[in-house]
Amino acid sequence: MKRNIIISAFIIITLTFSSCASRSKDEVEIKIDDLLSEMTLEEKIGQLTLFTSSWTQTGPTMREGYLNDVKQGKCGNIFNAHTAEYTSELQRIAVEETRLGIPLLFGYDVIHGYKTIFPIPLAEACSWDLDLIEKSARLSAKEAAAAGLHWNFNPMVDISRDPRWGRVAEGSGEDTYLGSLIASAKVRGIQGDDLKDESTLLACVKHFAAYGAAQAGRDYHTVDMSERVLRETYLPPYRAAIDAGSATVMTSFNELDGVPASGSKYLMTDVLREEWKFRGFVVTDYTAINEMIPHGFAKDTADAALLAMKAGVDMDMQGGTYLLHLQDLIDQGKVQEAAIDQAVRRILKAKFDLGLFDDPYRYSDVDRENQVVLSKEMMDHSREAGRKSIVLLKNDAIDGKTLLPLNKKPKQLALIGPLAHNQMDILGTWHASGDASKSTTVLDGIKEVAPDIDVVYAEGCKTYGEDRSGFAEAISVAKRSDIVLMAVGENYRQNGEAASRTNLNLPGMQEELMEAILDLGKPVVLILMSGRPLTIENLSQKVPAILNAWHLGTKGGSAIADVLFGDYNPSGKLVMTFPRNVGQIPIYYNMKNTGRPFKAKDKYTSKYLDVANDPLYPFGYGLSYTAFEYSDLSLSQSTMRLDEDLNISVGVTNTGSRAGEEVVQLYIRDLVGNVTRPVKELKGFKKISLEPGQTQLVEFTISAEDLKFYNQDMSFKAEPGDFLLYVGGSSDADLSGKFELIN
Ligand code: GLC
Repeated sequence: MKRNIIISAFIIITLTFSSCASRSKDEVEIKIDDLLSEMTLEEKIGQLTLFTSSWTQTGPTMREGYLNDVKQGKCGNIFNAHTAEYTSELQRIAVEETRLGIPLLFGYDVIHGYKTIFPIPLAEACSWDLDLIEKSARLSAKEAAAAGLHWNFNPMVDISRDPRWGRVAEGSGEDTYLGSLIASAKVRGIQGDDLKDESTLLACVKHFAAYGAAQAGRDYHTVDMSERVLRETYLPPYRAAIDAGSATVMTSFNELDGVPASGSKYLMTDVLREEWKFRGFVVTDYTAINEMIPHGFAKDTADAALLAMKAGVDMDMQGGTYLLHLQDLIDQGKVQEAAIDQAVRRILKAKFDLGLFDDPYRYSDVDRENQVVLSKEMMDHSREAGRKSIVLLKNDAIDGKTLLPLNKKPKQLALIGPLAHNQMDILGTWHASGDASKSTTVLDGIKEVAPDIDVVYAEGCKTYGEDRSGFAEAISVAKRSDIVLMAVGENYRQNGEAASRTNLNLPGMQEELMEAILDLGKPVVLILMSGRPLTIENLSQKVPAILNAWHLGTKGGSAIADVLFGDYNPSGKLVMTFPRNVGQIPIYYNMKNTGRPFKAKDKYTSKYLDVANDPLYPFGYGLSYTAFEYSDLSLSQSTMRLDEDLNISVGVTNTGSRAGEEVVQLYIRDLVGNVTRPVKELKGFKKISLEPGQTQLVEFTISAEDLKFYNQDMSFKAEPGDFLLYVGGSSDADLSGKFELIN
């Protein structure tokens, strides 16, 4: 009897709760309806308007009087304003001085950290560690939310195969499969499990779409590609972010197939809303609506505003076109107020989801800000993420002994180069409100990790210009040293937005400085610090050791020192191909075979007269201080039906003398297709740790879903036929097997 009472009580409680939950969901919709019914058209248009504060400039225009816009209800959203104090001040104006008191949304580019900076995304992607990447996004959101922010203009998921484009620094490299997994991880990290949690932010997947395919790597340039390439290579990471729940989407600057993204109904409505069922809101990039005029797609800002509304854009970032023209467009019957209401509803829903109508100041808490920002948790993670982002490109033995890792015994070490002791450049591009005074430089890191070593620093030259006056001191320091560390590369302004470069050698006088130091005949370690792959073929032939250390953020110097002295065995693998020279670009691992694949002895094959076809370092490549051997590749069957899985296993052995991590990668090749297929496609990876001598059996499973592609009729399906598969520690893996897919 008693048991029945308990069960029925449980049922009553559950039903009550679930109806409350569904009612609270209805409650929000009802509240939005009520609010909409009270709003004037001007107040509605204000919610579709986003202006930057005067604190940071991230685009071509600034706007005077945004505080008045807020006060007059003409601007419902602000970006580039942060700190608990300043967001409270702005929020008070919106909540207490406007007619309806609708809270502001505060957005910011927290691309790889807010005040504590983590490795640039291109670097962190080289960790191939999805948990680490999600944790970085989670901690960045926690720190930014503690500073009053609600909305992160991240993840940037633009696939790119062209390192001339400076924004490769913000992305996850050239591969769609890996880029999609990283996109999902970042959305999970940014939004957490509950947007009501004040440590979570709205995510904003960007830049929709295909911005990374700008012609010639020139930022903002034209993008033109087949629908097949768009859907197979460029769209999946945006889709992955949407499927992971990204609350918002940002349009891209570029045109696609002749239509600027912010005016593309195909992208913003047909694909995003109808195909992908996206329910959040779409914001443009910075004045992207206005830019439809220079694109030659709109004749004036009124026309541009109409085109953006028709495409399905909800919010105008910095352009002021909706504010200026929507009232008239409605009066002229060109836009229906229902369309305005739908956009406003989406934005109000986001503000409700964040709990801003419960407490508009909930994110602006000075005490929490003081506890969370720059905390030990943040600093420790910056170092951990930095360690795992470093890629060891070369470590040749000299007289049977490799230069790296260095030992910590007393010796004279020369540390030379403009990146060796620079607290700003190590933060990288898009470093938000990063506090450079807290940066650990390479010099600081070495002193911290190896205090017994006498390290002498000389800048040598800048990352720009033609000044050689520092060469003499650098040469003198090098002459007095046992080993020379060269920390060279790009400064943080030489990549990122509006920073395309056609020459990817070391900028300024750094190549000359390197040559001068190399002429001394000392053992040299090259520490490359940049926001993109650089063309270092010449240097790579002259130095025995190369660490690609990107721009690693606040604790980057400690991370580099940890790897230099072996406290961490490097495990990074490239996510973007390193070309031998710019002439090879675009160059990426999953290219097509062509009808005349290269043959050394055959003139009439696809090649260059002046450089090899293969890159300097391929996608997926990275060395370790130990070594790994692959063996016993085994497939569960040699034929696989469309409704079956194929299980693959491979033995991986640590054949070296120290523990290490290896990213075991699985690639496939579809030998014959209804359309030509790439020579390799990444379909799986696992990062494993092995003690010296240890062997681990690594297993993968693939299904017909993994083998689908867009046929000539654009149907997305797998085709029976022969496949090769490859397993190894890089995209040039040659341990292979084969199977046949059958109906
Ligand atoms: C910039 C960038 C975009 C950023 C926005 C706001 O122009 O293209 O990535 O989120 O403006 O700062």
